[in-house]
Amino acid sequence: MDAPRPPLNELGPVAASYHELQSLPLLFDAARRPPVPPQGSAWQAVRALFQATEVALVTLAELADQVTARWSDDDVAAAVRALNWMTSFAKAWVDLAWRIRDVAPVAPNVIPQIADTPRHRLMLTDSPNWQAVFVAESRLAEALLDRSVSSIVPSVGDEIALPLLRYVMLQRIGLEYCVVEGAPAVYGDLIRPDEVRKAVLDQQLAGRTVFTQFRAAHQIPELLVDAVNDHLENAVLALRDGDLHAAEPMLHRVDRLLDATVLSVDILADHLRTGEYHTIRENLGMTSGSHSTGIHYHLMRDLYPELVAAMGRIPTDRELAEAVQRSVRTIGRHLDRWRLAHLNLPRINLGGAGTATRSLAGSRDAVQTVSRLRETALHRDRQQEPPGDGFRATDWESGELALAAVEGELLRAIAERTKSRFTDVQQRTGYFAGVSEFQAPSRRVGERPRRDGDG
Ligand code: HEM
Repeated sequence: MDAPRPPLNELGPVAASYHELQSLPLLFDAARRPPVPPQGSAWQAVRALFQATEVALVTLAELADQVTARWSDDDVAAAVRALNWMTSFAKAWVDLAWRIRDVAPVAPNVIPQIADTPRHRLMLTDSPNWQAVFVAESRLAEALLDRSVSSIVPSVGDEIALPLLRYVMLQRIGLEYCVVEGAPAVYGDLIRPDEVRKAVLDQQLAGRTVFTQFRAAHQIPELLVDAVNDHLENAVLALRDGDLHAAEPMLHRVDRLLDATVLSVDILADHLRTGEYHTIRENLGMTSGSHSTGIHYHLMRDLYPELVAAMGRIPTDRELAEAVQRSVRTIGRHLDRWRLAHLNLPRINLGGAGTATRSLAGSRDAVQTVSRLRETALHRDRQQEPPGDGFRATDWESGELALAAVEGELLRAIAERTKSRFTDVQQRTGYFAGVSEFQAPSRRVGERPRRDGDG
């Protein structure tokens, strides 16, 4: 049976697909606008990191306005909650900023592709989205100073002081690190901040929800993995040619980009509350991150296994082979770290394994499904040590952790809350009686002609 047309609810539209929910066509339009750096190049990695930072900036400007509004309404608790979200996005920004420096070319004059072209300095302060943050935060500063933060009731001052001071320090680091010399184009042309803003603000829901944060927390990894996949494809082609010198720097950048991808999970893991997720859940429709062409399919299903296979064919005594092998292992471990970090999200927002809590996409036991995806990937990965019989993070019934008893009770309570609120998801009735239109993409196996990526 086909899915009935997704309805509207009081907050807005119910998403028809993951791609639509996360505005991926607009997001990838930003990533594909000329001048497009060569696939697998250092500048592609820099562009992806800056664009992911731009997603954070657009979100920060929205959040700063929310803090101002709540503070002006005397709703200190809500102001602090919004400020904590800001801290989380600023932390993600700093994680991206370190990596911009890690992957940016050290000496632009030795890069042949751009040797004869004028070079530019990329500075986040040139972004209109940074300027919007500045304007929104000026309004916030005015509202805070108006009430003389330091002189108000000490407990209120304390509540706002910790997140505010932490946030401003993170911003200081982010700004200092988001400067790169020798770029092939000016900031606006290479990073496309206006296009990124369109993608972030493309969809909104009515009222006070965490929808923008939820979408941004998907858009950041989508942008990073888009560049990761081009790097992996080129690295696989280079390894098949036995060209370890070409593969090594690309794999180093994949390592840096994936490390940032793993850390981006914390944005939601640290701040998304079950109730906040439940408020927007209906608007997510029959979607799932497992419908992500870039992350679930091209990275996890296609290119990483392809990389491991290509690695198996290179002689181990070759110069650089050990460094390349180490990078491949680290990349595999990042995927496992991501899976373990991501497990928090269905755990906290849907309930525990073995509670038969269905996911929107229809998995019969959401957390068990995510755990099994992890187990299967780990067992298939020949680059990792085979899992032994020691403690595993996904041993939900193990008696090793004293707090697991409390954890189990909380997760059961969350599951009951989820199942009773979303009976149509649970019983597959109403809109959820249909089937998702989602179809898995065809394989991406690195068959494109190899390009020289290091530019
Ligand atoms: C509240 C937040 C989230 C919840 C409740 C959640 C839930 C789930 C569930 C239940 C699955 C298993 C498949 C299914 O039945 O849908 C899944 C898989 C997946 N999700 Fe999430 N998710 C969340 C956030 C995210 C985010 C932020 C991303 C980042 C893009 C993401 C990406 C994925 C991917 C790539 C898979 C496949 C994993 C694999 O192959 O190992 N999810 N998610």
